[in-house]
Amino acid sequence: MKEKLQRINLHKVPNHIAIIMDGNGRWAKGKGMQRVFGHKNALTAIRESADTASELGVKYLTLYAFSTENWNRPKLEVDALMSLLVNTLKKELPEFQRKNVKINAIGNLTSLPKNAQKVLTKVINETQDNTKITLTFALSYGSREEIVNAIKNISKKVVNNNLDIEKIDEKIINNHLYTFNLPDVDFMIRTSGEQRISNFLLWQMAYAELYFTDVLWPDFRKEHLFDAIIDYQNRERRFGKTSEQIETDE
Ligand code: FPP
Repeated sequence: MKEKLQRINLHKVPNHIAIIMDGNGRWAKGKGMQRVFGHKNALTAIRESADTASELGVKYLTLYAFSTENWNRPKLEVDALMSLLVNTLKKELPEFQRKNVKINAIGNLTSLPKNAQKVLTKVINETQDNTKITLTFALSYGSREEIVNAIKNISKKVVNNNLDIEKIDEKIINNHLYTFNLPDVDFMIRTSGEQRISNFLLWQMAYAELYFTDVLWPDFRKEHLFDAIIDYQNRERRFGKTSEQIETDE
């Protein structure tokens, strides 16, 4: 483990990591348990990833906790996920404060149960001045819905003569997304062997490096995040430029 850490260049860690935490159901099934058992065991992976990212100097970690499509799961599972969210946020608030973690949420938050909205608002407000890392939970999140929502809000401003159509640019669009206060994603990790983006941060991942691992989310630990970051650091991010240009930029 120490060897892996030594291979990481602490000056080049991704600023913003996004994770699709996949495989909880299969992990539980593999142990002959109900799917909810997998979600409960996902919490250790969340805690360890957030702690490790923070220690390495990652400034933003965004976790796909619940998609707009996840509402179609059996009610029992949806209810269990919502209680897990509420109980975890309540229980972890002192730890977020101690570790200087700022909590943020993106998604159609008004569709969450009232008690979840209430605890989220409380945790977001109480941690708003924390500065070590911003931990964002994507909840009832869908990237296409986010873009539709942004287009509607921008259009309203144009119709009301509060915005000149010629002024619409990438910055204006960014400012109308749920992620208006977050930088672009540098690195996206998906666990469980699936190689899809699944409607997650489509706009924000335009230039992100993508990393897929077979590890199921409840098994994801510090060493796996180290492996992912080592892989990221061995890539060359060209943003459409040539290798030679990148070398002279450095
Ligand atoms: C994907 O595994 C995981 C989810 C849809 C839910 C992730 C949510 C949590 C880990 C808990 C939320 C709580 C907090 C505190 C944010 P899957 O169920 O799709 O697994 P499968 O693909 O193996 O079926």
